[in-house]
Amino acid sequence: MRNIQIAPSILSADFGNLLADIRKIEKDTDILHIDVMDGHFVPNISFGIPIIKSIRSRTDLQFDVHLMITNPEEYVRAFSEAGADIVTFHIETVQDPASMTRMIHGLGKKAGISLNPDTAVETLFPFLPDLDLVLIMSVYPGFGGQSFMAEAPARIRAVRDELDRIGSNAWLSVDGGVSDKTAPVIISSGATLLVAGSAVFGDPNPDEAMRRLKNA
Ligand code: DX5
Ligand code: ZN
Repeated sequence: MRNIQIAPSILSADFGNLLADIRKIEKDTDILHIDVMDGHFVPNISFGIPIIKSIRSRTDLQFDVHLMITNPEEYVRAFSEAGADIVTFHIETVQDPASMTRMIHGLGKKAGISLNPDTAVETLFPFLPDLDLVLIMSVYPGFGGQSFMAEAPARIRAVRDELDRIGSNAWLSVDGGVSDKTAPVIISSGATLLVAGSAVFGDPNPDEAMRRLKNA
């Protein structure tokens, strides 16, 4: 049995009370998922470096920063210095994923690559040996609260098989439409890190929502 973790996404938190929302889930996880959107790579804008910097000094959670931005190489240092522990970029946004991965490692951070639902999973395979995390999108990125795509489990399985084949123990993370309904198929397909936004922070009791997800 693999170790499974849930990373709540603050995209669905109350930004007017962000720290209070983080406190609600702190004892139920080690990892906080942080969605950065630039209005170019995705049709939405969330938040950026100052927000990450200001929560960094107030929690010990690992920051899993999901960059949904074009030209991520220009910002990776700033996000690392702001407090990211894991920096994940989209394979669709860079010319040279290997050099981007080296850049993140050179800053002392863990490196992840994310794939949109319409990007072939095989494009990722050459880079897998160097990654600490793979993030499979199970919705088109940009917004919380979308429905889990039926095509996602086969994509998760394909990446799981390749990770096992090469002997990698990188996190296999899944993002979009994660709930207590979809968690079982996500886990049985081989995922180890479930990102959940609206299922956690959209619930009036995020701590209970975390426990429901864990039980699922
Ligand atoms: C979507 C983001 C997700 C988002 C997921 O583009 O990458 O992390 O917060 O939201 P839910 O869990 O509501 O689908
Ligand atoms: Zn995300």
